[in-house]
Amino acid sequence: MKCDKCGEKAVINMRQHKLALCKDDYLRWVPEQVEKAIQKYKMFSHEDKVLVAVSGGKDSLSLWDILHRLDYQADGMYIGLGIDGGVSYSAESHRLAEAFAERHGLKLLVVDVPETYSASIPELARRTHRGRGKPCSVCGLVKRHIMNQTAHEGGYSVLATGHNLDDEVAVLFSNTLHWEGSYLVRQAPVLEADQAGLSRKVKPLCRMYEREMAAYAMLGGIEYIYDECPFAKGSTSISYKEILNQLEAGHPGAKLSFYLRFLQAKEAGFFSQQADTHFAELHPCPTCGQPTTAPGACSFCRMF
Ligand code: AMP
Ligand code: FES
Ligand code: ZN
Repeated sequence: MKCDKCGEKAVINMRQHKLALCKDDYLRWVPEQVEKAIQKYKMFSHEDKVLVAVSGGKDSLSLWDILHRLDYQADGMYIGLGIDGGVSYSAESHRLAEAFAERHGLKLLVVDVPETYSASIPELARRTHRGRGKPCSVCGLVKRHIMNQTAHEGGYSVLATGHNLDDEVAVLFSNTLHWEGSYLVRQAPVLEADQAGLSRKVKPLCRMYEREMAAYAMLGGIEYIYDECPFAKGSTSISYKEILNQLEAGHPGAKLSFYLRFLQAKEAGFFSQQADTHFAELHPCPTCGQPTTAPGACSFCRMF
């Protein structure tokens, strides 16, 4: 198969875009696509100070790489979760995030949960009996809190995460299966900082297939952690991703179209009534100041 741009040997065929590319053209094409998404959804400009949440995985490291190539001001933030799982998951992802920062001369902020809060994520989950033996919900809560706080205190106008199309479509699928109106309203490439204490959140990879990001990291020589978090095994989101991959195999482009048409439907006002009630419920937590829907302190402060 030949590259559709230059006629050299193609290294990737993307049936969803009817496009095959060679290595050099692919490594140019991905940042172009990400730049288009940044512009289309008005995520940020070159004047913004962006904080990239870097987990050590292929998506967030590639995102940092791309923003750096596109000349955006992007620092990284790594959150140490204290997860071992036999593969030293946290230690290894921390090492890879540090190595990337050093190699490109970039600034990485690190918040270590066991050091800062005297307990790892699995310990916190055990102590608080949240999540029926799985630490994922506590982990999500803690990560969201730390990301918000670090971005806000560091004067970053934007917080960027490496969520890719497959992540977004799995969430959309779940929210649609359960008709979660208020979640559907809030699922977007950009979440405005319309509450004090909340930073603007963006997902520049939201239109990039997971496979495309894996290929970008591999061809770009980005060293990332292959292992998933050991607690992710058997999760519903993984089984939704498998179902969606089956759909995609028979109908190339199905995932992208599901997501883009959802965004169009939202733009057309499909879920607007839900939005009003949802945002009315937010108020600042009396302890940490971050916005919350809980009565009194936010879930993070209540947990401690
Ligand atoms: P996940 O929820 O693990 O699918 O990760 C989604 C996104 O959250 C990643 O692409 C990162 O941008 C961010 N993220 C996840 N884990 C961490 C971490 N330990 N430190 C910093 N950012 C993270
Ligand atoms: Fe948080 Fe797995 S429990 S990343
Ligand atoms: Zn080419």
